[in-house]
Amino acid sequence: MSLEKFFNPASVAIVGASQTPGKVGYEILVNMIKAGYPGKLYPINPNAKEIEGIACYPDIASIGQTPELAVIVVPAKAVPAVMQQCAKAGVKSVVVITAGFKEVGPEGKELEQQIVQIAKQAGIRVIGPNCLGVISPIEKLNASFGGDLPQSGVIGYISQSGALLAAILDAANAMGIGFSKLASIGNKADVDELDLLKAFGSDPSVKVIAGYLESITDGNDFLREAEQVSLKKPILLMKSGGTEAGAKAASSHTGSLAGSETAYECMFDRAGIIRCSSIKVQFDFARTFVSQPLPAGRRVAIITNAGGPGIMAADAIEREELEFAKLTPKTIKMLQEKLPAAANFYNPVDILGDALADRYEFAIETVLDDPGVDAALILLTPQAMTEATKTAETVVKILRKKTQKPVLICFLGGGKVAEAVELFRKEHLPYYDSPEIAVQTLRVMADYVRWRSRPKRVVKMFAVNRRKAENIIERNLRMGTTDLSEADSKEVLEAYGFVTPKGSIATTSEQAAGIAEQIGFPVVMKIWSPDLTHKSDLGGVVLGLENKREVMDAFDLMMYRIPKKAPKAKILGVLVQEMCRRGKEVVIGMNRDPHFGPLIMFGMGGTMVEVLKDVTFYLAPLTADEAKQMLMNTKTYKVLKGFRGEEGVDIDAIAESLQRLSQLVTEFPQIQELDINPYIVSAAGTAPVAVDARMRVKKV
Ligand code: COA
Repeated sequence: MSLEKFFNPASVAIVGASQTPGKVGYEILVNMIKAGYPGKLYPINPNAKEIEGIACYPDIASIGQTPELAVIVVPAKAVPAVMQQCAKAGVKSVVVITAGFKEVGPEGKELEQQIVQIAKQAGIRVIGPNCLGVISPIEKLNASFGGDLPQSGVIGYISQSGALLAAILDAANAMGIGFSKLASIGNKADVDELDLLKAFGSDPSVKVIAGYLESITDGNDFLREAEQVSLKKPILLMKSGGTEAGAKAASSHTGSLAGSETAYECMFDRAGIIRCSSIKVQFDFARTFVSQPLPAGRRVAIITNAGGPGIMAADAIEREELEFAKLTPKTIKMLQEKLPAAANFYNPVDILGDALADRYEFAIETVLDDPGVDAALILLTPQAMTEATKTAETVVKILRKKTQKPVLICFLGGGKVAEAVELFRKEHLPYYDSPEIAVQTLRVMADYVRWRSRPKRVVKMFAVNRRKAENIIERNLRMGTTDLSEADSKEVLEAYGFVTPKGSIATTSEQAAGIAEQIGFPVVMKIWSPDLTHKSDLGGVVLGLENKREVMDAFDLMMYRIPKKAPKAKILGVLVQEMCRRGKEVVIGMNRDPHFGPLIMFGMGGTMVEVLKDVTFYLAPLTADEAKQMLMNTKTYKVLKGFRGEEGVDIDAIAESLQRLSQLVTEFPQIQELDINPYIVSAAGTAPVAVDARMRVKKV
């Protein structure tokens, strides 16, 4: 059912409307009146004849009409009975402001379940409980106790915190930011962020979606929807709180490196969602998305009357991986002809400290006409002769005329630029109090443009031996084993096209020597026991054995020492394995997030992985581009590509491995965690080798 009636109802009943100022039920009614709500208002209260001059009804049935929206603001215990009244009267949209439900414990949870049940049976959609309400400035509807009606605009806002929404509204008002629709979703008993994302996604009055979320109920559905919506309009989210994945103790490298926020970060990346670290940042970003066109590319030009801020902006452009626009000879010539000789005609275009409004006008127009410029940043500091307000008026005039490229404004100072800033605020133009945040906004826009123009996601499927992997996993699960042995883990990987080192198990020292001779020296030896995971800590791994004697001695020593150190461990023998000497060590792995599914990891390998944390994650299934991008997101990438004359490794082979891993964990939801560490990668033509592997599985 559409959520339209929450924001555009022809009539609204406020159940629990009170005559007492300061009470929530009074404030909501007054907010509706003050907003100039044009529809019919029905205050409901058994003890009042009228409130604020509006006829009051004892209950919903007495109205004799069906209100299109009911706002409930009676004590928690009375809410189910009011819901029944709504059901009987045929109300289809209900906002429950009342607190004291799921958030307070089992009794409240039970009450909330009653609400949900009544709503389901009667086909009612419910926002809340425990919420601030709903607002639509464009419809003059303020069914909330969040203060005055916000300014009208094109932002649709979703907030999981009612109290924070009150602060958000206040901040937006001060910044001159307007909304078309806002909803506080509270406990999300029925309507949640996904419903609102869908509603705002297809709502022409919403051009930018923004929100504050603490949790996402249906991770994968939200991701899929957000991916579609982001193609049409930007989504700017603040997100706090961790996931279960982060809270649980992880046994793998991948698990321990996947912090609580990793899955959300990956989801945001994949869905093109722009993450905002604070209310201010969110609105700083939003105000440009709302008022300016998207940039065609990343080339930024600066026009300034001061050198310092120009340099600050230039630094920020580099830091934010934007490009410094290179002005064409024609533009430079035009600037040279009209600007004073001491000006800088290249980017940043410095029109000097004595620049008046007319010089700004000429420089801005000329620079914006340059085909090599995708976006412009106008900087001003208030020097003795600077015409801050007149320059602001000029900027407004230009921006009304030139609408092809985004222009961001940064007038630095305080009192001397206050009037100019107020003009930008009134005109809803993107003004900033520092060049850095302006440039950061441009970066976010440019990244969004890049995301929108990414190629269609095509996930390659490799020919694999799925049956073999299934047999191994099922056999382990039948036996109650969740941590697969190294051998089983490797066999599963081999079934998906991974190469593992040659090797076999020896039960005597002679046998060990024989295997080593067959493989060729040097070899590695590892104690073979289903009970020992940290073998090297016990002296159960020896590397670089060069001859038969060394192999036999190592065997005897392990078989003597390890049973002493780990008397309960069942020792099956010693694995004699090929030693992979060439190449570089990386780690690849997977950790399954309960909300978003498998997170694929790539990073620097070896023992330092957990210290240096040079790793990246991406949500499976991976495309070839995404796999490559994962590699490029690490510092290790530079080393892998070849560095200071050293030969590089086969980057494409690693990217393919990540895709194969992604296919494996997508096809087997039983796999919870997986580590291949070290994964030895070499020059093109030599297959990477999974030297060690661990896998944890679970019945699903
Ligand atoms: N039908 C109609 N009116 C009813 C009613 C019913 N079944 N039951 C009670 N009322 C009336 C009361 O008579 C009262 O009106 P009055 O002031 O004229 O006497 C009004 O509804 C409110 O009831 P009251 O018992 O006075 O409660 P309250 O106003 O102190 O508190 C809430 C009610 C809903 C505000 C309160 O329970 C609450 O949840 N507060 C927190 C809200 C919140 O923080 N939400 C989350 C925001 S993020």
